Amino acid sequence: RPRLRESFTGRNAFILVAIGSAVGLGNIWRFPYITYENGGGAFLIPYLIALLTAGIPILLFDYAIGYKFRGSPPLAFKRLHPKAETIGWLQVGICFLIAIYYSAIIAWAAMYTWFSLTQAWGDDAEGFFFNEFLQYDAGGTEGTGISVDFVAQVGWPLIAVWAVLLVALATGVRRGITIVSMIGIPLLFLMFILLVGYSLTLEGAAEGLNALFTPDWGALTNGTVWIQAYGQIFFTLSVGFGIMITYASYLKRRSNTSGSGLVVGFTNSSFELLSAIGVFAALGMLAVAGGTAVDEVASSGLGLAFVAFPTIVSEAPASALIGVLFFGGLTLAGLTSQISIMEVVISAVKDKTGWSRVKTVALVGGLIAIISIVLIGGVSGVTILDVVDAFSNNIGIVGGALIAVVMVAWVFRRLDSLAAALNRFGSFKVGPIWKTLLGIVLPVVLSVLLVMDITDKITEGYGGFDTWVLVTFGWGSLAVVIVASVALSLIPWRGASAMHQEDPD
Ligand code: PHE
Ligand code: NA
Repeated sequence: RPRLRESFTGRNAFILVAIGSAVGLGNIWRFPYITYENGGGAFLIPYLIALLTAGIPILLFDYAIGYKFRGSPPLAFKRLHPKAETIGWLQVGICFLIAIYYSAIIAWAAMYTWFSLTQAWGDDAEGFFFNEFLQYDAGGTEGTGISVDFVAQVGWPLIAVWAVLLVALATGVRRGITIVSMIGIPLLFLMFILLVGYSLTLEGAAEGLNALFTPDWGALTNGTVWIQAYGQIFFTLSVGFGIMITYASYLKRRSNTSGSGLVVGFTNSSFELLSAIGVFAALGMLAVAGGTAVDEVASSGLGLAFVAFPTIVSEAPASALIGVLFFGGLTLAGLTSQISIMEVVISAVKDKTGWSRVKTVALVGGLIAIISIVLIGGVSGVTILDVVDAFSNNIGIVGGALIAVVMVAWVFRRLDSLAAALNRFGSFKVGPIWKTLLGIVLPVVLSVLLVMDITDKITEGYGGFDTWVLVTFGWGSLAVVIVASVALSLIPWRGASAMHQEDPD
């Protein structure tokens, strides 16, 4: 008895949920400091070029695969070619890794929304974050050892975040998944518009914006700047690791897929610009008030959000308000992105096994939640988070995307039929330019990104962590993903039919 695949209630629901995935920590903390460090205003040029030559084309590529083959990544790739299933599991594996730690940042942001009311960090935001809140050095684990000693004020909020996530996922695409974005995304945009409006009135706003946008044209001839631009685009659009394939698999047959893709891509970039303006206007105040140069406070995501921003909150007039807007927004942005990551894993297991959604969420979602709570809810959480993030994001996402694009374009040669699927009901038609970008430009760019990053991690290590920590949580987790992907592809299908392709075009 064939069961119909779930579907979104309509185009708006799909666009909102896809924006929910795209708009996340990448927009709020990554884009501002990456822009600042890579040429300021001049960075917008490589950024836009990366968006148009790589971001939008691969976004449409993901949409086309999900929409045409109507499956989670392993199912969609299997339907694309019987030998391609492993490509899908690699993407699922990356999502599994990211899901373990991303939820912790949501839990921290939720706690900081609360802390904003009393400015619980006093006048030492950095000491408060690492020592008092995360208990980072309490187990004597800084930099070296790993311990899972539970930290109550981090672990309990994390458990609460997982409860919300699993309930939303268990109720399905039309209910929980759509509802969280339907409420969360408009609220997030409203909060950030208020935040930006407010930040612009702060003393020092002009200095902050000057620091951010003053163009350093010399940056344009620097290769690293271009690589940073492409890296930012991949991360911020959530492309290349199965998310957009999964969401597009729930589209109805007659969907304007390419048009929706453009809306999602440009909305994400607009939000990125908006939050950069808000963040730097506020940082300017800090620089003026405390005499600190902006670059001391804006050099990393965690530092920016949990050290610099709390300091701003303490010093700004109407402090609690700006704190609640920023950390509340961060919480909402994180939740909608985390749901999208989880849904990749849930839908893949569901498709393969034929289990019900509730059973899959309970078993697989529960497993990820437990790993997350044990590893990231303990005193070494921030270490593990940092390492898994550095490996899964740079090597995992970029490597997974490279394999997918090269195999589909050159080995299975399916770009023409993907283009046809997009063009059938799409308002934006793709053709030779799209195929050239995917088949030639993207493989080159992705290979350069990947080789540079792997070389760097092999020769320099990462973040000053002990080699055994990198081998266990970095290289080790990537190795597990690869082995598991091959193994899972060998198991026979019990759920959705891997042979039946629903869209003969
Ligand atoms: N696109 C997200 C962002 O900009 C990144 C992301 C989404 C990461 C989903 C993980 C999961 O923050
Ligand atoms: Na984003």
